[in-house]
Amino acid sequence: MLLKYFPKNTSFENIFVPLCGKSLDINFLSKQCMSLYGLECSSDAILDFFKENNLSHHQSDNIYRSDNINLICDDIFKFDFSQNKVSKFDFIYDRAATVALPFELRAKYHKLLKRVLSSQGKIMIITFEIDRDKTIGPPFSVSHENIKENFKEYSIKKIYESEKQQSPAMGTLSKECIYLISK
Ligand SMILES: C[S@@+](CC[C@H](N)C(=O)[O-])C[C@H]1O[C@@H](n2cnc3c(N)ncnc32)[C@H](O)[C@@H]1O
Repeated sequence: MLLKYFPKNTSFENIFVPLCGKSLDINFLSKQCMSLYGLECSSDAILDFFKENNLSHHQSDNIYRSDNINLICDDIFKFDFSQNKVSKFDFIYDRAATVALPFELRAKYHKLLKRVLSSQGKIMIITFEIDRDKTIGPPFSVSHENIKENFKEYSIKKIYESEKQQSPAMGTLSKECIYLISK
């Protein structure tokens, strides 16, 4: 998905991957920018990422580094971006992050993404629309209307929408959507 929908012929200075877990996408994205910052509350997931990718790393406070990859271990709602070396990003990649957060936190989370987005930046959000109550999850269902509401002052393109299909993991019908959001 990322390979297919990542903006072509673009190289970014700073990429941010909120709620990054130990995603393999970190590797691909780190090759498309000068510095990649991921944020994840589980130190186990961060350490697993380096181990599973055979990357040596060093740690200073709650930041784990390997080459241009910087993984911050914190709660996204507590981390002070203004204290970080980089506090604005020109590409933000949200896969399974918006859908990991309950509806009550989503507007606060999207506000935070907008705050750390540079003026020419883009946000890619990969979501699921799931045929069930929005309070059930994770993953939580995210509607197009909710994205439009939280990014109303932005340009929003839905660049991919799958067929609705039965998902054994979710036990109901769902479809995947990808949004590309910019100012
Ligand atoms: C569904 S996983 C997605 C991981 C990754 N984005 C991927 O595509 O594989 C969601 C991740 O968000 C992390 N997480 C949940 N709430 C968080 C928070 N408030 N701050 C930082 N990380 C959080 C979890 O530990 C988990 O690794």
